[in-house]
Amino acid sequence: MTIFTTGGAGFIGSNFVLDWMAESDETVVNVDKLTYAGNLENLASIDGDARHVFVQGDIGDAKLMATLLSEYKPRAIVNFAAESHVDRSIHGPADFIQTNVVGTFNLLESVRTYWATLSDTEKLSFRFLHVSTDEVYGSLGKNDPAFVETNRYEPNSPYSASKASSDHLVRAYHHTYGLPVLTTNCSNNYGPFHFPEKLIPLCILNALSGKPLPIYGDGQQIRDWLYVTDHCSAIRLVLESGRLGETYNVGGWNEMSNLDVVNTLCLILDELKPRIDGKPYATQITFVKDRPGHDRRYAIDATKLEKELGWKPAETFETGIRKTVLWYLEHQNWVENVTTGAYKHWVGKQYGN
Ligand code: NAD
Ligand code: TYD
Repeated sequence: MTIFTTGGAGFIGSNFVLDWMAESDETVVNVDKLTYAGNLENLASIDGDARHVFVQGDIGDAKLMATLLSEYKPRAIVNFAAESHVDRSIHGPADFIQTNVVGTFNLLESVRTYWATLSDTEKLSFRFLHVSTDEVYGSLGKNDPAFVETNRYEPNSPYSASKASSDHLVRAYHHTYGLPVLTTNCSNNYGPFHFPEKLIPLCILNALSGKPLPIYGDGQQIRDWLYVTDHCSAIRLVLESGRLGETYNVGGWNEMSNLDVVNTLCLILDELKPRIDGKPYATQITFVKDRPGHDRRYAIDATKLEKELGWKPAETFETGIRKTVLWYLEHQNWVENVTTGAYKHWVGKQYGN
């Protein structure tokens, strides 16, 4: 048996592939365009393992996808491929529309054509799992209840709007063509292999190199953080037991303000790798201009996933953030290799000097 992953050289996709290979004998065909966010080093530990077939390619390339699908005949596809960074979507939304909307549409078309060639039994057991985000629901007020699956979609950034569009396309392919789809909407992830343009890895690396820790606005925006391997376990469970056509929220029941997140990782760094001058890392915290249209609060109600499928996150924020900080301390080579010219160019553009 074989599954396909798309975007499996990115942050969550690579964690998923590594976990999958550790828990299953099934082959993974991993299609990734290797944009700035894709990194084969994330998959170095499975180098040479014949169960992992890496193909550099675009999910929107219908010819390539048709060839791969008919060659490997997967029983499932997990679609991680996307442009994923809100700040980049503000600077340049076009790539987000291209991959997240047009790319997902092309992928759905390729999969629909392939699915039509399967036997009735294979058709029934086939799955297309679309990995999405809680950001499609928009922003919550301080006392609003957490997002449930029936919340109205109110995306506010080009990123979340493009993900919302892709979710709608996936839904339509189920209702119109009967394609056996599942969608997960997850909160903010953190953990190993997280590209350091996102808040947590950016602040860990900036702290260690004596740079400012940039907090947008007042730092009181709230996110619901989930350790990445808990997201992966939720996806595996939904893939195996989720009800067709359904969406499942995934979250850690862990709302924190950005300022609290950064203060927490500073305290862990103070303990694990104290500054030479003995001062706390939190002294590097710097308030900078807010992100335009910045969503104030996200919170996930994961009751459906817990009740229907029995999922629970294994990590708390305290255990997960400690593991994450340790991982970055222990993977200096990985860090050096991703913080190259293109990364420096992005940091210069976003934060100035
Ligand atoms: P990422 O940016 O780290 O990785 C994306 C991967 O997709 C990269 O390897 C990139 O090379 C690849 N890719 C981009 N365009 C492609 C294309 N056209 N064809 C093939 N591959 C392409 O993203 P991530 O944080 O790992 O997120 C993965 C998925 O999970 C995304 O769909 C994202 O919307 C969703 N998600 C992310 C989070 C989060 O906190 N990071 C939370 C919820 C949902
Ligand atoms: P991010 O990691 O970009 O994820 P998302 O925007 O998808 O939630 O940002 C997490 C939060 O941290 C978000 O509220 C924006 C904020 N943030 C900062 O305050 N400073 C930064 O330098 C970055 C990258 C993010």
